[in-house]
Amino acid sequence: MTMWKQAIEDALRVVRADIARFGDQFPHVSNGDRVYQLNNNTDWTEGFWSGMLWLSYEYSGDEAFREAAAKTVGNFRRRLENRTNLDHHDIGFLYSLSAKAQWIIEKDEAAKKLTLEAADVLLERWREKTQILQAWGRKDDPENGGRIIIDCMMNLPLLHWAYKHTGDEKYRQIAATHSDKSRRFLVRGDDSSYHTFYFDQETGDSLRGGTAQGYRDGSTWTRGQAWGIYGFALAYRYLGQPEYLETAKRLARYFIERFPEDDVVYWDFDAPVTPETKRDSSASAIAAAGMLEILGFLSADDPDRAMLQDAVERSMTSLVKNYSTIGEEDAQGLLKRGSYSVRGGAAPDDYVIWGDYFYLETLLRLEKGLTGYWYERD
Ligand code: GLY
Repeated sequence: MTMWKQAIEDALRVVRADIARFGDQFPHVSNGDRVYQLNNNTDWTEGFWSGMLWLSYEYSGDEAFREAAAKTVGNFRRRLENRTNLDHHDIGFLYSLSAKAQWIIEKDEAAKKLTLEAADVLLERWREKTQILQAWGRKDDPENGGRIIIDCMMNLPLLHWAYKHTGDEKYRQIAATHSDKSRRFLVRGDDSSYHTFYFDQETGDSLRGGTAQGYRDGSTWTRGQAWGIYGFALAYRYLGQPEYLETAKRLARYFIERFPEDDVVYWDFDAPVTPETKRDSSASAIAAAGMLEILGFLSADDPDRAMLQDAVERSMTSLVKNYSTIGEEDAQGLLKRGSYSVRGGAAPDDYVIWGDYFYLETLLRLEKGLTGYWYERD
């Protein structure tokens, strides 16, 4: 059995136990006690649990996973009807991995309709004057009204998918314009990235880069860089413009050149490394998935191929051997040592559900060539 297959089998053992453990609730992060905090689908992260259930079902064919996954979609339907905490751009994370996943796997018409409705809610974040999708806060929010964040690149596949299924150009146009702005303003000349960038809400003028979860405004938050690697690769998939693939490669090269000794990154590339510095295992899992997405576009003689393949192999080997919960009987999560927000005091160095999702997605890509739910496979 390959190391990847062994890791998948063990992950599914944990997910199966979690279905009973979590009931109708959704895991978010744990707080240093290896016990997932649960909620009723009220944060930005619940899609990852749904996505893990769908991936587990696709890998195993076990109806228990399907049933649990389909149940989460019902919950996402109620969330949209009630508009429960949807005033942010992470609609893409939430609905791509839940309702869109169900459409991709089963061609379920109700799931398709729900996904299209979710895409329309994401479009409400579009701001004409700045030509951006506003990440956080209400429309006229003085701090956040003109702000984009690099994470949003992973929310845009929802709009591209909506374009594919409606033929309505507005979804594609908005995703394309936002991608272009993100590439020009969030990615820096040395291939590092800002977490966030501000525009003047009235004039649309570019103002400055900044951070929310990174070490300082000009630093490179590793998870942001990872969202960029995967997000720009997906922009290339949907828009076909070579600059997006090139951007994804540049961000990946920067990330790889800064691997620490055990190949799993710290939380920010500019944070001083001491024995206390936190890792972010989730950043490594996201980046590995993104690098596999890039690799899918490269020809056999592409000069970056070997670097990317080696980086995926090294990251995933270290995650499996040094960071996973393989063999830990009562583990609730798959990956230890994720960091949510170190600067914000929310870095218990523990489980984060998106880390678990991308770890499983990457393992399934490696073992079975099974991609996640960011795009349709046919
Ligand atoms: N998208 C929010 C985060 O990565 O923490």
